[in-house]
This record gives sequence, C-alpha cells and structure tokens, in this order.
Amino acid sequence: MPSIDPITRDLWQVIAATDEVPVGLVEITTLLDVRLALTRDNDGNPVVWRRTDEEQGDEIDPETVLDRLPVITGYGYIWTSLGTPPKELFPIPEYAEADRKNMSCGSIGLAVSAPRAVENFLDMGHFPYVHTDILGAEPHTEVKEYDVEVSEERDEVLATRCKFIQPRAAKSATEAMEVEYVYRVPHPFCSVLYKSCPEDENRRDVIAIFLQPMTEERCRAHLLQSMIDSTSTITDLRRFQQTIFGQDKPILENQYPKRLPLDPRAETPIRADKSAIAYRRWLSQKGITYGVIPMAS
Ligand SMILES: [Fe+2]
Repeated sequence: MPSIDPITRDLWQVIAATDEVPVGLVEITTLLDVRLALTRDNDGNPVVWRRTDEEQGDEIDPETVLDRLPVITGYGYIWTSLGTPPKELFPIPEYAEADRKNMSCGSIGLAVSAPRAVENFLDMGHFPYVHTDILGAEPHTEVKEYDVEVSEERDEVLATRCKFIQPRAAKSATEAMEVEYVYRVPHPFCSVLYKSCPEDENRRDVIAIFLQPMTEERCRAHLLQSMIDSTSTITDLRRFQQTIFGQDKPILENQYPKRLPLDPRAETPIRADKSAIAYRRWLSQKGITYGVIPMAS
C-alpha cells in the first residue's frame, strides 16, 4: 500500500454528494487506497467509517457504527479525513448567496491522479480543441497574459485576469463573449473557478471541481455549480456541465504519466502553463507526495 503523506492525510477529502447517500443503507467507496463505507442517519447526518465486510446497499443502523471517521458537509458534499482535519472547509462565500442556483453535477470516475485533474481544470489552452464551439473556437486560440500568485494568507493558488473568447460561455449565453476567469486552488485536490456571468456583468458564476483521490492514479471528480441564471432549469444547467466534463474525460485519461510530475523540467513550460507551474510548486512546497511524482532531491 502506498504511503499517504501527512498533509494529504490531514485534509478534508470529498467522498459523495450528500443527497445521493441514502438513509440507513451502506454506500462503499475508496479514499487514498482505504476502503470506506458511509450512510446517513435518520436526521440525514452522514456517518463514515473504515469498511470491513459491508457491501453496497446493505441495510445498517448508523447507531451501531462506533469507530467513525471525522465528517463535515459543505457545498452539497460529504467530506471526511483519515487524519486530523482543520475545523472548517475552505470558504466559497458565494455559495450562501440566496439567489444562486447551487447544484452538484455528478461524480465522475477518472483513470488519472487527482492533481492531474486539477491541472486540466486550470488549463485554458485546451478550450478551442476539446470544447469546440462551446468554451472556445478557432481562430481564438491564444491564451493571453494573466497573473498568478500564491496567497500566503489564504494558502491558495490564485490566477486572475484570465481572458478568453467563448462561443457559448454558459447555458445562459446567447452569443460569443470574452469571458474573464479567476481560478482559486484552495485545497491540493480542489479548484474553484469564477467566470463572467452572461446574465449579470457585476457578478460571477462559480464552478468548482472537488477531486476524491481514490488511489494514486484514479480519482472521482465531484462537480459543483453555483450559478446566476433565472431561466435555465437545474437539469439543463447540470447537463451543460456534464457535456463539458464528458469532453475532458478521455483527454485526461490519456495523460501520461498518470501521476503529476512536480519537477518543472518534466514537461515543456509555455505561457499557458503559468498556473500549472505555480500549482506544482505549491504542492511541492507543501510536501504532497500522493498522486504526484515528487521532485528528485
Ligand atoms: Fe476542459
């Protein structure tokens, strides 16, 4: 069994959409090579533990589960930890705004490491080629200069002023527009994207990806949308995001190696990779070794 670095062990890790876990029935999953079982009690509160002989769909009285892992709920998802997690999850303040449509958009298995999936989420260079006529189109293939910093105070990677011309930036978009993106990486395996909102130029739609590292080379992507959209239904908004992610999946799974190399010389840097370089450096400085190929020391 691969060793789990202490930073990864002490993080909150996403494992399921809260609504999708039935009360009194066992769900099984894998986190960091550890087999887990979970359910919800009669009040709807999640209970998570290390799986022994439970099977998917077994009936269980949650009161009988004594040896529990830490649990927190947030952004529509259940999070647990194999170590000693912080008091709270990283903040996404917009999620609490009353007029937003918040939704989970599915949990998708990926045959690639969690950090690879984060890096793909940060990359705008693939839009015209992978999300053709939706998030990008030729001849607008240029990734313009943007800013990246690591916020010491919040301990997150932040990319700002990312601009791109998109034929159909969101479900609510009726024409091509230059959209502005802000990316946050507030957790080694999670990223939050803020993008221009077609319906209200003063606000941003929020799309987040939470990766569940199942093994070093396999993960599940849990998607969140928090949208300003008064016309589309939740089903339509979900379908739009699932279409986009369905286009990413085969590209992601073709990445080689499946773990993310942290040595900056491992893959050719181009300007579009500025956020990727900052992300890799941040993981390296934190001492993350799970799902990555650490720098040779
Ligand atoms: Fe993509």
